Amino acid sequence: MSSTECRDLGRALCIITGASRGFGQTIARNMSRLVKPGSVLVLVARSGDDLRALQAELAESEAGRVGLVVECVVADLGQPDGLEAVVRRSQESFSEDLDHIILVNNAASLGDVSRYVKSFTNMAEVDSYLSLNVTSSLCLTASILQAFPQCPGLRRTVINITSLCALQPFRSWVLYCTGKAAREMIFRVLAEEEPDLRVLNYSPGEERSLHSSLASQSKTADPTIRKSFSDMFAQGQLLTCEESCAKLMKVLLDDNYTSGAHIDIYDL
Ligand SMILES: NC(=O)c1ccc[n+]([C@@H]2O[C@H](COP(=O)([O-])OP(=O)(O)OC[C@H]3O[C@@H](n4cnc5c(N)ncnc54)[C@H](OP(=O)(O)O)[C@@H]3O)[C@@H](O)[C@H]2O)c1
Repeated sequence: MSSTECRDLGRALCIITGASRGFGQTIARNMSRLVKPGSVLVLVARSGDDLRALQAELAESEAGRVGLVVECVVADLGQPDGLEAVVRRSQESFSEDLDHIILVNNAASLGDVSRYVKSFTNMAEVDSYLSLNVTSSLCLTASILQAFPQCPGLRRTVINITSLCALQPFRSWVLYCTGKAAREMIFRVLAEEEPDLRVLNYSPGEERSLHSSLASQSKTADPTIRKSFSDMFAQGQLLTCEESCAKLMKVLLDDNYTSGAHIDIYDL
């Protein structure tokens, strides 16, 4: 079968960070419908109640009824033991009949957008932001690749949820832009180093979740950026997570992208 004919993601182990709400939750719902029976979803976030609610929803869905296993890992990805818990549960969930490992690095935070670059004098504050948004993504990916090394018959796909902010500077969003730029480079280097992997940097567009919350908008220091977000919100230009995720799933199923590429929803 050619890759373009592939209409499912195989019998997969899907590890999805930030699955408690927003885009990550939508990815979990979509992947549950695209994997073969016997597949496993490992859902990661700090909010255990939200993860368990999603687990229960998926268990009652068609996918759950035909054998999808859903595991929750309640963990802070900014902490080493959080990462270890994800790797441990993923290894425990693996069985020889699985043929695809999919890691979705989705969890992220916006950081303090109420200030400009010149105000970030505190190294601990910046380190803490980068620890969650860059370091944990690198170390989790590395740990999962070590836990599931290349082997015949096993596909491995690593997805980074990125943003236009990885490519373009936005005033008063220095932490977010820096984190997204650094994080994207991790996956570009990875794609160069490991040709057997499929690596995708997917930019989901502006959605009605993290950036678009009224709180984020109103906290943005720069008036031009603040206005552009509130205009998008007022004019209904923000995407739903479902719209954005449907395009991501199509990219994964078509499997025609160059490994390591930055693919923006608006280019599809
Ligand atoms: N929304 C947009 O318009 C937009 C645009 C471009 C790119 N993106 C990217 O898309 C991804 C998802 O965005 P979103 O809008 O869905 O974000 P969101 O609604 O704020 O959700 C973020 C997710 O990350 C988890 N998370 C945050 N800190 C964590 C930590 N320390 N440990 C473990 N999990 C943590 C949260 O769960 P807990 O709080 O339960 O831990 C939550 O599930 C992000 O990478 C974002 O940068 C979003």
